[in-house]
Amino acid sequence: MSGSALRGGVVTMCLVMSLLATHAPALHSTVSLPWGWECVSEYRCVKKDATENEGLTTLNTCKLSCTSDGLLWPLPASSLIHGDISMFLVDNIAFEPTCHGEVCNLLQEAFAIFKDNLQRYHPAYSQGKAPWRGPWDAATLSHTLYVEVTVSGEATELELHTDESYELTVTTAGDVTTAAITAPTYFGARHGLETLSQLVDYHETADALMVVTASVTDAPVFPYRGLLLDTSRNYVSMATLERTLDGMAANKLNTLHWHITDTHSFPLVLETLPNMANYGAYSASEVYTREQIAALKEYARVRGVRLLPELDAPAHVGNGWQWGEKEGLGNLAVCVNQEPWQDFCVEPPCGQLNLANPEMYNVLSSLYHEMFNMFLPLDMFHFGGDEVNINCWNSTQEIFDWMTENHYGVDEAAYHEQWAVFQEKARELLLKASGHDDIQGILFTSGLTAPEHVESYVNKSNYIIQIWSTEDDPIIGDLLNLGYRVIFSNYDAWYLDCGMGAWVGEGNNWCSPYKGWQTVYMNNPYEIAKTQTGSTHEDLILGGEAALWTEQADDAVIDSKLWPRGAALAERLWTNPEGEWYGAETSFIHHRQRLVKRGIQAERIQPQWCHQNEGLCYM
Ligand SMILES: *[C@@H]1O[C@H](CO)[C@@H](O)[C@H](O)[C@H]1NC(C)=O
Ligand SMILES: *[C@@H]1O[C@H](CO)[C@@H](O)[C@H](O)[C@H]1NC(C)=O
Repeated sequence: MSGSALRGGVVTMCLVMSLLATHAPALHSTVSLPWGWECVSEYRCVKKDATENEGLTTLNTCKLSCTSDGLLWPLPASSLIHGDISMFLVDNIAFEPTCHGEVCNLLQEAFAIFKDNLQRYHPAYSQGKAPWRGPWDAATLSHTLYVEVTVSGEATELELHTDESYELTVTTAGDVTTAAITAPTYFGARHGLETLSQLVDYHETADALMVVTASVTDAPVFPYRGLLLDTSRNYVSMATLERTLDGMAANKLNTLHWHITDTHSFPLVLETLPNMANYGAYSASEVYTREQIAALKEYARVRGVRLLPELDAPAHVGNGWQWGEKEGLGNLAVCVNQEPWQDFCVEPPCGQLNLANPEMYNVLSSLYHEMFNMFLPLDMFHFGGDEVNINCWNSTQEIFDWMTENHYGVDEAAYHEQWAVFQEKARELLLKASGHDDIQGILFTSGLTAPEHVESYVNKSNYIIQIWSTEDDPIIGDLLNLGYRVIFSNYDAWYLDCGMGAWVGEGNNWCSPYKGWQTVYMNNPYEIAKTQTGSTHEDLILGGEAALWTEQADDAVIDSKLWPRGAALAERLWTNPEGEWYGAETSFIHHRQRLVKRGIQAERIQPQWCHQNEGLCYM
């Protein structure tokens, strides 16, 4: 199934009850538009003058039924839009779940979200309600949408290899439309509801919802489909985190990789280590408490997303770690805020853990213990592990002395060796804190993962490697040939912070230019692997994620940086489609409109004219 889905194609039953755009009363407006749309033979909706053409439909009606895959995003593995459209009112939806135990509770929540998402299609939606006014004809008033969801399994937590597949059929007989979703897990069923919400749209002149008959068989290509969000460079509010999860749910992305801490700030409140946030938070309110994290974790789970926490170490620590000496524990971190920063780290401010201080491991142990319990249950943990600056350690007298006194040496290899020792200790502390021995660690590519010594430093049974360098970096082929499991976030396509003005110095930021949605969409991990190794390595490539590092982002702009490009990523990882981005453009533009209706401030990609005139905005 992987890599076989292709956009565009035949409608099995050509159109559609003809709902004239022109003669229906214009709603709440004195403007009466003379336009309608027609689905023409190349499966394109064409805007025409309704005074000269018979049988035109509204734009949404045409889009919903004009191709075999309609407006579905991400494109399912297999789907067929049959084309019958029925109108109904949002109050005439019945929910019939078949399930076990806690899955039933989750399904009730998912259904409430589904219904709210349908309300949001109304152009005048606000605060949970739309002012539906009609008037409606008898057929619309009497039509019912039955949503029948059957979940056979009992899983209520998302793990790396959770079965997320589902089947969905939408059929209509008389005044009843039945949407039947079957799935082995809650998570598959939830995806089915997302797809169903895309087979529904707002009918612009009838002031009602419409649903199109269809059949869908679907499952993701990649099990790991993520976004990385950094909440250390700038604080991100709970509301923005929730909106991010809303967007992920709408796109069937399943992993929020939360880069909670870094050198800049430490916003995580720990009961056993209160000084971390006392010293590390930007302010007393810019923090995450245990209660907030519990609520966010539940918000994510209902939406089919796991929170994957990261504690980046031994570099990328600093603010929050300065209290050790005052408490009699010595220096926990070194080079903290040290200047000139260029000598000790990749961006200001600097900081690295103090390898020579055994107390540092005690603090790390408490930290892992509390963190693990906050994010429970976890089958993966992100250790970060990137960008260690050897000069920071080597120029710190305490560490230099410790290296010499223990006869480790002070050359680069010696420091790499001790970094690897740190990483293994950190992993053991995490396992001990968790009480499990089967938690997979994730590490960014770094000095530790260089091909000449990766096998002696990083055990491939215990770690997954996240690739963040460019698609032509030979490290990708090296790691795959050595048998490492990998996650892609190559910065030449999947870094969403690129393409701004610089924040240190002038000119553009380091990974410019901006990665447009087309670049995000066309970044194909199997193809990258094949180019480098001759094989697609489907067993080793777990998936990928787009990263939003927040040096230049906070609540004000996060939505527009994540979306709709996160949707382009989602189709790559869910469907791994064949074909070029332009075959997906029409659906993508409409999907962006949907995200905005869900309350996400997704960036505009084209003028609205292109949305109304499909296929005419090309080079
Ligand atoms: C560490 O410092 C010593 C003495 O200053 C120097 O000889 C050595 O080359 C340094 N090591 C690295 C990896 O730079
Ligand atoms: C790697 O880890 C696995 C599983 O924990 C273990 O069985 C194996 O011995 C380790 N390999 C090395 C070289 O330490």
